Amino acid sequence: MARAIVVLTGAGISAESGVPTFRGPDGLWEGHRVEDVATPAAFARDPVLVQRFYDARRAALARVEPNAAHHALARLDRDWPGDLLIVTQNVDDLHDRAAAGLAGGGRLVHMHGELASALCARCGATQAWVGDLSGADPCGCGGTLRPDIVWFGEMPYHMDRIEAALAACDLFVSIGTSGAVYPAAGFVDLARRAGADTLELNLDPSAGTAWFAEARHGPATTLVPAWVEDVLAETQN
Ligand code: APR
Repeated sequence: MARAIVVLTGAGISAESGVPTFRGPDGLWEGHRVEDVATPAAFARDPVLVQRFYDARRAALARVEPNAAHHALARLDRDWPGDLLIVTQNVDDLHDRAAAGLAGGGRLVHMHGELASALCARCGATQAWVGDLSGADPCGCGGTLRPDIVWFGEMPYHMDRIEAALAACDLFVSIGTSGAVYPAAGFVDLARRAGADTLELNLDPSAGTAWFAEARHGPATTLVPAWVEDVLAETQN
């Protein structure tokens, strides 16, 4: 019986694609205060600044490509016969692009939303979005379209599905995240309570590294393909 696996990814899995992380050297939060660009109050106070911040990040997606770590997880999603949920904190579309064209899979959720989506601030409707949201026409309901990003103080998406998967998993793997932000930082504890094995794949020890039964440190493009090949080999024998 193939193991049930939950994978959590953070900005570190996209770093080698050229997407800035948040808390590393020249990270996004070095150049911007969270309170100015990533809270509902910031959007109410200065929607132009907030829209421009996310418009720039959305435009940058066209200049980056999925890396070997994204492609390895897409293969896992296609080939793993057991239960699998890939939970990303990332709002880039690199996991999605790596999986495009691969049959099956689709076991990926964006818990912090997506740059490639717009959300109506009034009715809550979402729609795929490319290009700038600054100056976009309003929603059909008349509401303003905002980035479909879960800001600080807002409830992450898919939490019921994520918590159910963690409660039932045999293996929890955290990739490229600092363990600085909840609820994602608490997922390893939920997995341990479920009796799961726990593995951290990260460039440096995260804030939560002591919670993991095993930690491997190095670049995601090295660690993740190697781990995926090992796990898929389990199903060969
Ligand atoms: N390979 C593997 N890990 C890497 C690499 C790499 N090439 N480069 C950096 N890392 C690791 C860093 O060591 C760090 O632990 O990725 C992690 C990035 O941490 P953060 O910048 O804090 O990003 P993340 O953990 O995803 O932030 C979580 O915080 O601001 C919010 O909503 C935002 O989703 C984000 C959340």
